[in-house]
Amino acid sequence: MSTASSPHPPTPRAHHQAGDVPAIHATGLRRDFGSLRAVDDLDLDIAAGSVYGLLGPNGAGKSTVVKLLTTLLRPSSGSATIMGHDLAHAPHRVRSVIGVAGQYASVDETLTGRENLRLFARLTGMSRTDSRRRADELLEAFSLADAAGRRVGRYSGGMRRRLDLAVSMVATPPLLFLDEPTTGLDPRTRQQMWQVVEDLVSHGTTILLTTQYLDEADRLADRIGIMNHGRKVAEGSPDQLKDRIGTSALAITPANRADVPAIRDAITRVLSPGGTPTTRAGRIYAPIRQTADATEILVALREQGLSPAAISVDRPSLDSVFLTLTGNHGPTREATDRSTTSGPTTSGPTTAGPTTAEPVHAAGLSTHHNTNLNNTDLNTEEDL
Ligand SMILES: Nc1ncnc2c1ncn2[C@@H]1O[C@H](COP(=O)(O)OP(=O)(O)OP(=O)(O)O)[C@@H](O)[C@H]1O
Ligand SMILES: [Mg+2]
Repeated sequence: MSTASSPHPPTPRAHHQAGDVPAIHATGLRRDFGSLRAVDDLDLDIAAGSVYGLLGPNGAGKSTVVKLLTTLLRPSSGSATIMGHDLAHAPHRVRSVIGVAGQYASVDETLTGRENLRLFARLTGMSRTDSRRRADELLEAFSLADAAGRRVGRYSGGMRRRLDLAVSMVATPPLLFLDEPTTGLDPRTRQQMWQVVEDLVSHGTTILLTTQYLDEADRLADRIGIMNHGRKVAEGSPDQLKDRIGTSALAITPANRADVPAIRDAITRVLSPGGTPTTRAGRIYAPIRQTADATEILVALREQGLSPAAISVDRPSLDSVFLTLTGNHGPTREATDRSTTSGPTTSGPTTAGPTTAEPVHAAGLSTHHNTNLNNTDLNTEEDL
């Protein structure tokens, strides 16, 4: 937990310039539990001021990484610096610049929510007045104001989780570790949590969060590392990881089934050579390499007097990436949170798993996702 005495957010993001020490630099980090290698030769470089998402199925080693980097566990081998402080040689310094919200709650059940927050604030060196103000701010931010005077032993699971997160943010440390911050939270509280994370980041806090929710990593993380069996199997921005899996598709639902051949012909002409549409469940999918492809298809359809009933752009979701890389069906909410239509579900290296559909509005086709297929920055550590 941070020992910073100010309740104010740390250094603004602008202060983190290129050349700054990375927030986390780990090399060859390994942790064995008996014969089990929970973390295997992990390298991590996390820039100050960024959000890094560690994604992986149960048992992948995410919590173990958090424990290693927060001095709660010793690595079997390997080394790391945290905000420039060596993990092995200066663990107390490391502890002074980090905050951590573990996967399981650490608050005192006999105290009220407000008392817990004030206590933690006082422990980080804040004055009585600052402690009260910070506690009230956090109770408000995590919708706990009404329950502030109740003993934590009587809180619901979700309320305890929120309090635990609030406690980890008392002193707004420069580097915050959040281990599955939104597991068990209801959808509204998840959104609030995301807002809190974004506010912290806008004030310069670096965040490493672990999650099994692909939509969460997509929304919050600048970079994502996917872990499986203790190893990092891929790393990149959400867009880079999605691009790794395949191209986007324009999904067209014809107004009449009789239009299908004409629509397919129009698409084939526009995409020729090289692009052929596929038809599944009454929808036609046209692979699009760039936004202009989609625009041209829509223009061609209009010229032919073919007005589809619905149009959307499907692009590979992080879900597909996760499935391809880990062979696991993560408990994702992506499909329900972000998708209005389900996309193609054929399996294979380029179209594995479901895709996310984004409605396209007639007033202006917008595919705000990056459909660039160059993955120059992608660091895939193992072949797919
Ligand atoms: N203290 C321990 N002793 C023995 N084995 C452990 C210990 N902690 C973790 N493990 C094992 O290490 C592996 C990685 O566990 P870890 O908790 O890091 O996974 P995780 O990715 O956080 O999973 P989850 O999504 O379920 O939280 C698992 O096989 C786990 O059983
Ligand atoms: Mg865990």
